[in-house]
Amino acid sequence: MLKTQNCGELRPQHSGQNVTLAGWVNRRRDQGGLIFIDLRDRWGITQVVINKENAPAAHAIASEARSEYVLQVSGSVEMRPAGTANPDLATGEIEVHASALRILNEAKTPPFYINVDDKVDETTRMRYRYLDLRRPRIQGNIVLRHRLVKFIRDYLDARGFIEVETPILFKTTPEGARDFLVPSRLMPGTFYALPQSPQQLKQLLMVAGIERYFQLARCFRDEDLRGDRQPEFTQLDLEMSFVQREDIMELIEGLMIALSEQVAGKTPLFKPFPRLKYQDAMEKYGSDKPDLRYDLAAVDVSEIAGKSGFPVFVNNVAEGKPVKVLRAPGLGKGLSGEKLKKQMADMETLVRSAGAKGLAWMALPESENGEVKGPVGNKFTVEQKLALFDKVGAQPGDILFFTSDKREIVWAVIDVLRRKVAEQLNLIDPEQVAFCWVIDFPMFYWNEEEQRWDPSQHMFTSPLPEDIPLLDSDPGAARGSQYDLACNGYEVAGGSIRIHDRALQEKMFPLIGMTLEHAKEQFGHMLEAFEYGTPPHGGIASGIDRLVMVLAGEPNIREVIAFPKTATGSDIMAHCPSPAEQKQLDELQIALALKEKAPEKK
Ligand code: AMO
Ligand code: AMP
Repeated sequence: MLKTQNCGELRPQHSGQNVTLAGWVNRRRDQGGLIFIDLRDRWGITQVVINKENAPAAHAIASEARSEYVLQVSGSVEMRPAGTANPDLATGEIEVHASALRILNEAKTPPFYINVDDKVDETTRMRYRYLDLRRPRIQGNIVLRHRLVKFIRDYLDARGFIEVETPILFKTTPEGARDFLVPSRLMPGTFYALPQSPQQLKQLLMVAGIERYFQLARCFRDEDLRGDRQPEFTQLDLEMSFVQREDIMELIEGLMIALSEQVAGKTPLFKPFPRLKYQDAMEKYGSDKPDLRYDLAAVDVSEIAGKSGFPVFVNNVAEGKPVKVLRAPGLGKGLSGEKLKKQMADMETLVRSAGAKGLAWMALPESENGEVKGPVGNKFTVEQKLALFDKVGAQPGDILFFTSDKREIVWAVIDVLRRKVAEQLNLIDPEQVAFCWVIDFPMFYWNEEEQRWDPSQHMFTSPLPEDIPLLDSDPGAARGSQYDLACNGYEVAGGSIRIHDRALQEKMFPLIGMTLEHAKEQFGHMLEAFEYGTPPHGGIASGIDRLVMVLAGEPNIREVIAFPKTATGSDIMAHCPSPAEQKQLDELQIALALKEKAPEKK
């Protein structure tokens, strides 16, 4: 090794020892006779002192060194002079007095500071990702990710699970997104689909008698990207035979608590994890992945608002559409006049983007004799207002937001309002983790455009046993055996008990608008396998990237992936996707019929 110690490990007990360190110049301060270099490697930073008198050759080289040069330093570990210790550094009590110094490599001036946690333009970061990854915060995330994955492997191994790899070149496994296709050269005109998940294969492994399977599986989904979504991502994918919903939830809950506490050093806010029924989660939080770090919740005030003097509410309630209030505790304090109006107008713009037609509000006075402000204050009688305040638990200085529309829009509005109000009231602690289970999802959502039912999870999810008859009579009312795990407002895992019966599986296809013929073409192998002694089974998959993101308290999934894609699905460091060579296309017998101009070759 070119080093005897790393840059994070020297302590007072090493003083007097001769050591050799190697790393990058984090910072250099030239004080004439003395040069100080903070040398950085993956483990930390050590201060190196180069004295012109004692080590003239080393001093001459040190005066050439610049930020991010790669150095090797030999010298003795010494206590820092009294009063100069740095309590912010693990190695802050000592320094290394260099006797010899070697430049192992030079570096151009980086396009951004590596040694300060500055906000850097995203494009520049991605263009120079290898430099971005040198920054301690991002590197810390990558290390955390490694620890987490290692812990998961050990945890599951100890419980009898085995890791099985499944193919990347496979057949469509729909999870609700578009497939990435890979053309076959050997069979021109045919395509593999990259798996959106190993769903089919893990179920086939249950037919195969593996009983306890897991995999750190790469998944590929061609969908619009967001802060918590990447076109390729990693799942902890898991499947078990002879289980019920409870068994999987217990296993994963234990794992998540252990990961939070033992790997990330964060105790979950609620233990055991709260369990919400889908319907209740939607009514209270407007989301099936509510952030429970703050307890803002919507209240149904249809009964009172339906009798008010505001025609929109009266008409909506008459049509069976709810009126809901989200109370923002103390949000109106110190707000009045133009400032209040402006803030409310901004809120209205926000909820309109979620589909709302408007945003009624009431600002409660801060004192007894003040008056209620807002566009609908005068549409409620004094008694109605008192009943309303009582119902939502209103306090002086609160703002009440009203939303009324069809149920799905009300949910969407409550969701964005909750997130925004929590941000405005500073209720979000990035250091906290609040997990919750969401269960009893509907089996299907109605797809208005296609006039058919879409599976709310995927087509292999079993209905709750007592709801199986509903598949014939009222599919929309049937609940699935699905369970999702949310944390801090993100869905971090989802799974279900599967259908293991061919007849029941075949019943699903027409419901989701798939002919049996088409289903057999796509999933014939599954249907056939189900005839050879399939055990009852179920499983779950957890998004590793998202999990690390919430455990690291990061706001974006890109921060925990070494080489992520940008919002347009590209890698701007390596310039991909990129056009193929004509020769490659010819081999695949593919001719392009582009409607848009292809990007220039880089
Ligand atoms: P699901 O589609 O819910 O279930 O995915 C499981 C988990 O994977 C994560 N995830 C993503 N993470 C980053 N980027 C994406 N584009 C992305 N899409 C999903 C989420 C999600 O909870 N086969 C089923 C699981 C099962 O039934 O066992 C499945 O894939 O954290
Ligand atoms: P108007 O009487 O149309 O001026 O509306 C009075 C207030 O009610 C305005 O602040 C609107 O934004 C709001 N509003 C209108 N429709 C709705 C609705 N469906 N839900 C909540 N607020 C609404």
